[in-house]
Amino acid sequence: MTTASESRELTETGPSTVMGELMRQYWIPALMSAELKRDGAPLRLMLLGEKLVAFRDSAGRVGVMDHRCPHRCASLFLGRNEEHGLRCVYHGWKFDVAGNCVDMPSVPPHQDFKHKVKARAYPSLERAGLVWVYMGQRREVPPLPAFEVLNVPEDEINLTLIQRDCNYLQALEGEIDTSHFGFLHAGHVDADEVAEEEPLRHTITSRAPEYQVRDTDWGTQYGAYRPAGAGRTYWRCANFLFPFWTQAPNGEFGSHVHARAWVPLDDGHTMFCFLWWKRGTSAMTLPQPALKDGTPNGGTGRGNKLLPNTSDWLGRFRLAANASNDWGLDRAAQLEGSIFSGIDGIHLQDQAITESMGPIADHALEHLAPSDQMITRTRRRLLRAARALRDQGKMPPGVEDAQVYAEARSGYFLSARDTPWPEIYADALAASRRWPRRAAPDDASLSGVQTKDAATAPG
Ligand code: FES
Ligand SMILES: [Fe+2]
Repeated sequence: MTTASESRELTETGPSTVMGELMRQYWIPALMSAELKRDGAPLRLMLLGEKLVAFRDSAGRVGVMDHRCPHRCASLFLGRNEEHGLRCVYHGWKFDVAGNCVDMPSVPPHQDFKHKVKARAYPSLERAGLVWVYMGQRREVPPLPAFEVLNVPEDEINLTLIQRDCNYLQALEGEIDTSHFGFLHAGHVDADEVAEEEPLRHTITSRAPEYQVRDTDWGTQYGAYRPAGAGRTYWRCANFLFPFWTQAPNGEFGSHVHARAWVPLDDGHTMFCFLWWKRGTSAMTLPQPALKDGTPNGGTGRGNKLLPNTSDWLGRFRLAANASNDWGLDRAAQLEGSIFSGIDGIHLQDQAITESMGPIADHALEHLAPSDQMITRTRRRLLRAARALRDQGKMPPGVEDAQVYAEARSGYFLSARDTPWPEIYADALAASRRWPRRAAPDDASLSGVQTKDAATAPG
């Protein structure tokens, strides 16, 4: 079980918290590149409980900094994005993307001390349509995580952001909890209604799968297995990847190239950030699942309707179906058995369930089962890594050894092998299409980054 103090360690991500410090060691996907226009309006950005402002300067470089002006704490969100910097509208001080004060017009020239003033700015870079932010203290930024999906040509990557109104941990744990699939998403489906070759059939023929769970270089992994006839086994495999990433089993293993981040905005709100290869075989690219007779499988409606973004700290990429309207719950569909949950849409079902737990689930009330061993192991791995960082300064997995992520894949496949799970996984990976590593972005694409020989140090 997870104690109250472990629960706090796991779920609190603000500055100086154990998990917050762990997360600050990594590059964090923070916003879409398209959200920032050159010389356009600055954007309120909440990240790990910090209120930040993001903007794109005249040269196209991105600045991400504390929203409070270092003069007298007025919000730089109200600022003017002028030539090569953001000018506070209170007394006119101006800051470049690295946080340097470059103009102090409210002070007589002989008393000007702008060279001594810096806004607290974080390095950023752009990759795969995202602005990534590094909020750690190290003088040299770490490499980007070497996810396979970051090697795919950028025009073949699809990017989705959706806010979820709960703590990152319970959102993430919904992804590595495969035993809910046969209920929440498919509890209304009979195996006989589904075609023999449909992967879904295995999931519902056996709704209580057995698991292999293990630690990996990038985090944790499960392989859930069910007999699939003729000496074969149906495997569904998923990953947790430090510090808040998942890879789900909802695609054919050989081409399911994707990564899913659960980025804490604050401790009660999370931004789901989903990168996936458009040409892979997955729930996103296959037609809506249908039964043998051709009727669509209930509850698998596509499309997540978003509300218009606002400039609020938590106003970006919110679903129209949310707690205020019971996530569109249709009691009639639930009663007649056309949709087990009564909620239409796989993502929305997961969203509703994890939000329904409250902003931060009370772990003291849980009764974790053998089928929750992936969750238990992942919590333990996160806690151990966060404490090792705090107590011994030990860097957590994937920070310096970012290449470990390249070996992580998830999805479903059939195997006739009777070898241990790591070997079955290695075989499946070897048989998959792989993407050669693309070079990391060069320094020119980094904003406000302090490297050995760069002068644009953040404050
Ligand atoms: S508070 Fe920003 S310039 Fe004075
Ligand atoms: Fe789910």
